[in-house]
Amino acid sequence: MLDELCDLATRVRLLAKSEPGARALRDLLPTRRAMLYFTQPSTRTFLSFNNACHILGMRTSEIRDPATSSEVKGESFEDSIRTFSSYVDVIVMRTKESGRAAQAARLMNNIPRPVPVINAGSGSDQHPTQALLDIYTLDRSFEGNGSIDGKVIGMMGDLKRGRTVRSLCYLMRNYRGVRLVFIAPEQFAMEADVKAYLDEHQIPYTETTDLAGALPTLDALYVTRMQTEWDTAGESRAVDLSRFSVGERELTRLKRDAIIMHPLPRGPEIDPVVDQDPRAMYWRQERNGMWMRVAVLIKIFAAESRLLEAEPR
Ligand code: NCD
Repeated sequence: MLDELCDLATRVRLLAKSEPGARALRDLLPTRRAMLYFTQPSTRTFLSFNNACHILGMRTSEIRDPATSSEVKGESFEDSIRTFSSYVDVIVMRTKESGRAAQAARLMNNIPRPVPVINAGSGSDQHPTQALLDIYTLDRSFEGNGSIDGKVIGMMGDLKRGRTVRSLCYLMRNYRGVRLVFIAPEQFAMEADVKAYLDEHQIPYTETTDLAGALPTLDALYVTRMQTEWDTAGESRAVDLSRFSVGERELTRLKRDAIIMHPLPRGPEIDPVVDQDPRAMYWRQERNGMWMRVAVLIKIFAAESRLLEAEPR
């Protein structure tokens, strides 16, 4: 499935380069409508889903501020979701609370007109479509250098509260011989549930606070920001972020064909001078997000065969 999605994303990306290709894509799902329910701040995930829908000719409605929805009148979450489902063919949702997308999906399993639910970020728990675009970015980046199999992937920053790294860890069981290196301040180390999952699936990982020592061993460094919005008493401020940041000095220790990723938005953990380095992959990663979300929508609506017809022979 991951290989299929990556392949789909690439086909869409190439097709979209030409005017006839872009038109053919727009004719794939013109009768489908999406609800973008994003009650937690979002720039990239929202915009990439919104544009992914439009690339496929879909129409979108959105709620971004719960204060503008009937939830303020006391309507339950489940009734609100059921209402959205009455008007659209897919619900894409991001919420501050974890488990909401799963709750919405369970509800859909029990109503006569269910629509698919896509989790676009659930609290500090999961961000599955980010993990898909991260896989796509890794896959593309390692094209000339084997594949994801056997690579050493470092994950750095607030691993405790960052949902992107959590979701990405889960997908690693689909690759052979991947090793993970968690580089984090002790108080923001990867949570036990993810480590238990890795143990269960025999995915080796190490934990360290020493970025300089880890750098030369890595094929990819996935940097994340401190998730300060979850602080209850300024916990993030106690961290010496300079030890968990990438700048010119770190670049000299990183392999020449390694890549640097970041789900964005970034804080001080990546110096903007790094953007000029060919190993900086995060802006491409951001754009990959749109192609991967197009691929996810094509898959959900089973439009692969129509895509094939749109492709030049
Ligand atoms: C991430 C998120 O919202 O979890 N951003 C994103 O979706 N690209 C990462 C973050 O906010 O740190």
